Amino acid sequence: MPFIANYSLKNLNTFGIDVNAKWYVNISSEEDLTEAFGSPLIKENKLLVLGGGSNMLFTKDYDGIVLKISIKGIEVAQQGTDILVTAGAGEIWDHLVKYCVAKGYAGLENLTLIPGTVGASPIQNIGAYGVEIKDVFESCTAFEIATGQLRTFSKADCEFGYRESVFKGKLKGKYIITSVTYRLSNIPNVQTHYGAINSELDRRGIERPSISDISEVVAAIRVSKLPDPSTIGNAGSFFKNPVISQQAFDELLSRFPDTPHYPAPNGRVKLAAGWLIEQCGFKGLVDGHTGTWKNQALVLVNHGGATGQEVYRFSEKIIETVQEKFGVLLEREVNIF
Ligand code: EPU
Repeated sequence: MPFIANYSLKNLNTFGIDVNAKWYVNISSEEDLTEAFGSPLIKENKLLVLGGGSNMLFTKDYDGIVLKISIKGIEVAQQGTDILVTAGAGEIWDHLVKYCVAKGYAGLENLTLIPGTVGASPIQNIGAYGVEIKDVFESCTAFEIATGQLRTFSKADCEFGYRESVFKGKLKGKYIITSVTYRLSNIPNVQTHYGAINSELDRRGIERPSISDISEVVAAIRVSKLPDPSTIGNAGSFFKNPVISQQAFDELLSRFPDTPHYPAPNGRVKLAAGWLIEQCGFKGLVDGHTGTWKNQALVLVNHGGATGQEVYRFSEKIIETVQEKFGVLLEREVNIF
């Protein structure tokens, strides 16, 4: 488990940005973590914990240690009709989804094809097509950087919100997730309320969908809307969907009566960032080596050879234009380094 100097991160971030890390170390077990944290290099350098690299934009070389979490393994325990599935943080998320769908363990099927690893799933409470990880999360185990101790986090401990958790908030940079347990079920409770799922099921003439139907339908929707990171660099939604007050929304609606909107907690209103960006003329726009995706304006892409600076500058342009037209401030969902 060596520390490797001056390591290329190009294949370790889904944007495909060509930068180097001062140091790189691959972690395959909890023991590796203990060993790595015994190194004097740890005290002298800042740290970046990397999973699938699917939610980050590097704007420069990383002047510290990149810890790549590759802890593997899937374990299953049954409790009545519930199935507790525990996966190593380094498992590829979609491999876990496919494994569970194939075994008939219901709960993850709406989250098919989300890029990234298991360890990242609670950090930003990944979500898609009407389901968020908090709906099936049981617990996770994490390594405390300050003490080297392992701690178990319950769902309540994680303080989940829309694309938020305690690991992005007050405990940011303090823990490294090593495994996650999901509470799934032998009895499917399929979630089809997201409009696009229903239309695709109708189109296929499926009335009583199985979890594998849902998984296939979600995969088809994603493939039609989102670019495949293995061919076009991207990090999924670049911005969060903004959540605004009812008063700000009423004012917006008086100027833009077609604004798509969804109810959010505490009487607030969630807007569709992709719509706001499209209305500003950015959908499918190519700007140098970067741009937005032709079928989904919320996704910024690397058309080949883009630098992180270039993508970042383009995202600034989007934020300014949306702010000018709608008076709404977009917040980046991807982490900038
Ligand atoms: N829209 C447009 N133009 C666009 C994109 C979207 O008008 O270019 C409109 C759509 O017509 C629709 C609304 O915006 O009325 C919402 O679009 P969509 O259903 O595609 O979902 P989204 O809100 O843009 C969110 C998540 C995605 C997730 C989808 C499906 C965020 C930031 N993004 O996108 O998650 O896959 O819902 O559940 O919450 C990700 O986080 O990386 C991600 C891809």
